[in-house]
Amino acid sequence: MEYELSKEPLLTASQIEERVQQLGLEISSQFQVDLVIGVLTGSFIFVADLVRCLPNTIQVRFIKASSYGCSQQSSGSVKIRSLEELDLKNKKVLVIDDILDTGRTLSCLLEQVRLAGADTVKSAVLLDKPSRREVSIEADFVGFSIENHFVVGYGLDYAEGYRSLPAIYKMSIPSP
Ligand code: IMP
Ligand code: MG
Repeated sequence: MEYELSKEPLLTASQIEERVQQLGLEISSQFQVDLVIGVLTGSFIFVADLVRCLPNTIQVRFIKASSYGCSQQSSGSVKIRSLEELDLKNKKVLVIDDILDTGRTLSCLLEQVRLAGADTVKSAVLLDKPSRREVSIEADFVGFSIENHFVVGYGLDYAEGYRSLPAIYKMSIPSP
């Protein structure tokens, strides 16, 4: 089935920029982050923008977690790579993902970061789709809560495409 981008962005680049700056202030007023863990690949642009709104003493690492492959349906299983390489003992960790959908990726990851000995673990997501949740979890910091649309841009992909779009667009099925 062919999909196409919405003509207008769901969230413009300037809306995102403004909200990311606010999030930076919210996070630094509540929590002194030692280490940011970004979830590849979708969070790479959000992490790059958000860490520049946080104090410059933080460390930044990325891990790979994938539950989607190249389809729009979550497979239900979450694979997390390279967490064991990070020294998390006694650190205040902020886990950053692009979007909270079913909740499987983030809940699995937060659990593993806690088990690895982190002192405090909090989470930030740019987007939240609460209507899709299958696992009971909320992020500590949320950029935007959105309806149940499949979205791309600002790091989020469809089949590895569209990540470089500066704004966020809905992907829709063209009418016949
Ligand atoms: P969850 O484990 O179902 O919460 O899935 C979270 C992951 O699914 C995110 O990190 C994204 O990589 C991917 N995902 C969920 N919804 C979307 C979407 O609308 N567009 C692109 N990727 C999505
Ligand atoms: Mg992802």
